[in-house]
Amino acid sequence: MNIISIIAKKRDKKILSKEEIEYFVNEYSKGNIEDYQAAALIMAIYINGMTSQETTNLTLAMADSGDKLDLSDISDCIIDKHSSGGVGDKITLILMPIIASIGIPVAKMSGRGLGFTGGTADKLESIPGYRVDLPIEEFKENVKEIGISLITSSLNLAPADKKIYALRDTIGCTANIPLIASSIMSKKIAAGANKTVIDITCGNGAFMKDIKEAKELASTMIRIGELSGKEVRCVITNMDEPVGKAIGNSLEVIEAVRALRGEMTDDVKEIVLALGSQMLIMAGFSQNIQEAEKMILNEISSGSAYQKFKEMVAKQGGDVEYLENLDKFEKAKYIIPVLADSRGALKEIDTEMIGNISVYLGAGRMRKEDKIDYNTGIIMNQRIGNVVEVGQALAYVHANDETKIDGAVKNLRNAFKLDPKKVAKPKTILGIIK
Ligand code: URA
Repeated sequence: MNIISIIAKKRDKKILSKEEIEYFVNEYSKGNIEDYQAAALIMAIYINGMTSQETTNLTLAMADSGDKLDLSDISDCIIDKHSSGGVGDKITLILMPIIASIGIPVAKMSGRGLGFTGGTADKLESIPGYRVDLPIEEFKENVKEIGISLITSSLNLAPADKKIYALRDTIGCTANIPLIASSIMSKKIAAGANKTVIDITCGNGAFMKDIKEAKELASTMIRIGELSGKEVRCVITNMDEPVGKAIGNSLEVIEAVRALRGEMTDDVKEIVLALGSQMLIMAGFSQNIQEAEKMILNEISSGSAYQKFKEMVAKQGGDVEYLENLDKFEKAKYIIPVLADSRGALKEIDTEMIGNISVYLGAGRMRKEDKIDYNTGIIMNQRIGNVVEVGQALAYVHANDETKIDGAVKNLRNAFKLDPKKVAKPKTILGIIK
């Protein structure tokens, strides 16, 4: 077998065998295939596509390329949740303590933010003392003891995906359904989940820009699950505007804590209920959506979900005083309102631009080695469909670097498009696919 014939086969729109896909993944991981050859194959896949079986074989080969976490000593039903990425997405912080307080074990590894989308691990690290880098044994012990641990992975999970993903980024091949589906699923399989609910974000702040693409990604991931013995369900959520109000690490933790105490925006509530009810049904804790939603709301109103979050934070070294008294979180030096200069209904928000401005302010990183400025970011003050008067705040910039304020305010104002006509409020949940 050799890489040139594999590239030529995909160039000619033929189907690659399991052995050929494994050969590519293994040899590229070992450094025996050049980047330009791997780039040619990835481009051929991007243009000519892959069958479900090919996509599954790529997923499994990448999942097998490094460490695999075995969580079977915790439970035979390990449910994970994954988001395909977005702006202001703090759902994991709210949903996972709810799930754990209902009694389903939560052993979740989350990533750091890169580019315009944030990462749960960075958000948690904005709580002083919180350790995201627990050794695996301690992680598992915590799940056994208190039912939940959220960490970042110290394992070498799906390293082939890491290498291929980095390459895709440099050759314009990120937005492709078989490549995204195999990338996400390989990491979920390596992280030990046997059931996964995937939040497929859809809109101008997500990889999937329209509903047709999002549905296709959902069916591809469900099919990979079927072919690899894992149950997958997908919830398609609107990412034409940020989730909730806060974008930025400690700002999002504050919003998540308030949500766990029962105070949340309608979109956050809808996403938590939609993802959570699918998880409860998959875990066999509920028979139907109405019952599952009631259980979730009950965990919030009784205070149990918030208690579970505090328990997890304390167990991982975080200072719970910050959660009890949210004013303890240090504020950014400058909090500047971005005011509307005309009247109208909010028609469009450039969500990716908002994510990029928040990175520019220090809330995210453009390169892996960049440092995060935890209290910077943006608080949104309007949602699509709202009628905004002249001089009303569209959003607030939270900055520590004075020199960045003018640029951030100007770009942020340009990210909001107002219309003289009435604008309907968009739906938050765009589909549930199983
Ligand atoms: N998230 C991933 O993990 N991989 C992709 O390719 C896209 C989103």
